[in-house]
Amino acid sequence: MAHTGLFISFEGIDGAGKSTHIDGLAAAFKAQGRTVTLTREPGGTPLAEKLRDMVLHDAMDALTEALLIFAARRDHLQQVIEPALARGEVVLCDRFTDATFAYQGSGRGFDLAVLKQLEAWVQTLPAGVSAPNGLRQPDVTVWFELDPQIAAVRLAGARVPDRFESQPVDFFQKVSDGYAQRAQADVQRFVRLDAAQTREVVWQQLHHHFVQRGWLKASSHGNA
Ligand code: TMP
Repeated sequence: MAHTGLFISFEGIDGAGKSTHIDGLAAAFKAQGRTVTLTREPGGTPLAEKLRDMVLHDAMDALTEALLIFAARRDHLQQVIEPALARGEVVLCDRFTDATFAYQGSGRGFDLAVLKQLEAWVQTLPAGVSAPNGLRQPDVTVWFELDPQIAAVRLAGARVPDRFESQPVDFFQKVSDGYAQRAQADVQRFVRLDAAQTREVVWQQLHHHFVQRGWLKASSHGNA
């Protein structure tokens, strides 16, 4: 049976614990015969991964940062996301444009109108594809919400921090507020999970949500 492509993004401040759940969902979709494209932003193509390395490690001003992130996104959409959706695959993307509005917009205080313009230029739909606001957006965005103080404890000493992970707690509070604004503006798309709960409880809630939407069978539960 031909499937309709599904585009799912995962968001949250650094330390919110997205990764294991993304892997768990990939396994659950594969277990029921779906082809899964597991990818991330910034990144997901050779060019976008080079841009990721610059964005995470090289000093630059806020507009340069936003332009590089959207350049990486354009390449990622063209090379990976759109082709996978056209083939009817499940695309699980670790971060997408909500991260730009949360980190660059809310966290860094960069002009939201410029981000909106970049979003409109970059997220154009392929010919013959339509969407409610005329742009490519995830079908669902899973937001792992976590108190920045708890995230800071989780991240402490975990690895050498990049340009974002090394930011103070109040930066992550602004990022978190940015996610809350995006979620409020698009309640249909966002699924909010309380990431302070145990990993198992977060997984159960996440899985339950996908079962309710009819995208996973209840038997595909597995372990986080
Ligand atoms: P990751 O560590 O979850 O892979 O994310 C990489 C970092 O990049 C993370 O600190 C968030 C940041 N980021 C932005 O600042 N803007 C964006 O648009 C994206 C996708 C990520």
